[in-house]
Order: sequence, then structure tokens, then C-alpha cells
Amino acid sequence: MSEEYVLQLQHIRKEYPGVVALKDVTLELKAGEILALIGENGAGKSTLIKCCSGAVIPTSGKIIVNGREFSSMTPQLASENGIAIIYQEFNNVKELSAAENLFLGRPIRKGIVVDKKAMEGIRAVTYQDRSQGNDERLDGRLSADGGDR
Ligand SMILES: Nc1ncnc2c1ncn2[C@@H]1O[C@H](COP(=O)(O)OP(=O)(O)OP(=O)(O)O)[C@@H](O)[C@H]1O
Ligand SMILES: [Mg+2]
Repeated sequence: MSEEYVLQLQHIRKEYPGVVALKDVTLELKAGEILALIGENGAGKSTLIKCCSGAVIPTSGKIIVNGREFSSMTPQLASENGIAIIYQEFNNVKELSAAENLFLGRPIRKGIVVDKKAMEGIRAVTYQDRSQGNDERLDGRLSADGGDR
């Protein structure tokens, strides 16, 4: 365990009647890191993400966010701890920018006014992007391609 991780999942297990959706999943995510979770249909990707967002309660395991340990999340706890899930297409608000979708429900405000500039100034960068001087802003629109289940 370490302070440098923003998210740690330890030995997450999720059982549904008749199916074990997640079996001993452990992963660690550092600040600024982008981690891809890849697997075939039914591998458990959505279930794992839902455990992080509080939509699904794991059967066992630990979720550690910025060093705080949880046996399960609730949507409110997830939100309070900076976990936001961006679903593909149907669940996004097309009229809003990528940044506005990211901050949906918890916009950055200046007084009572939503501070669009502040939200769009948050940069999506990896360590590699940073070293290459890539500071792409989040003011683009989200793509309507793909789908999630
Ligand atoms: N609410 C549920 N009740 C029962 N079984 C479920 C439920 N949700 C998911 N499962 C089962 O858990 C397993 C993992 O499903 P999950 O949807 O997490 O996979 P996935 O990797 O997201 O798949 P896909 O690529 O198709 O989106 C599958 O066997 C699925 O049938
Ligand atoms: Mg899925």
C-alpha cells in the first residue's frame, strides 16, 4: 500500500447467483496514470467499474481511494472521493463539452456561476504526454461512437 496510488482495488470478488463475475481482482492506479481495462464480453469490466462507482457492492475485497479504505462504495461516497464514471455515448449529454460531462453534477463554480473555463482547463495528460509537452484541453465534444453495456 502506498500514498502514491489514487486508487487501489484489492482482491475484489463479485458473485451473482450462479456466476462469479469478478474473482480476486487487484489493481493499482497512480495519479496522472491512464489505465485500460480490456477483456472479452462478460469478462467483468463493467462490474468492476460499478464497484468503484458504488452501483455494485462487491462480495469481498477492498477499495482504497487516496489511502482511505472501503469495503464497498456508494454513489455518494464515490463522488465525494473524486470517482466519476464517464459512460460511452447514450449516457453522456451531447450538448455539453467533454469537460462539462466530466464535471456533471459537481461543476466547478466561481461564486454561483459555473466556471466553464476552469473545467476545460483541467488537462487530460499522462506522464508521457507531459514529457512531450502535450497539454490537450478538454473542451472538445464527446464522440458518439461505440457503445457500452
Ligand atoms: N446484474 C447482474 N446479475 C447477474 N449477472 C450479472 C449481472 N451483471 C453482470 N452479470 C454477469 O457478470 C459477468 C460480467 O459481466 P460484465 O457486464 O461486468 O462484463 P463486461 O466485461 O462488462 O462485458 P461486456 O464487454 O459485454 O460489456 C457476466 O457473466 C454477466 O452475465
Ligand atoms: Mg461492459
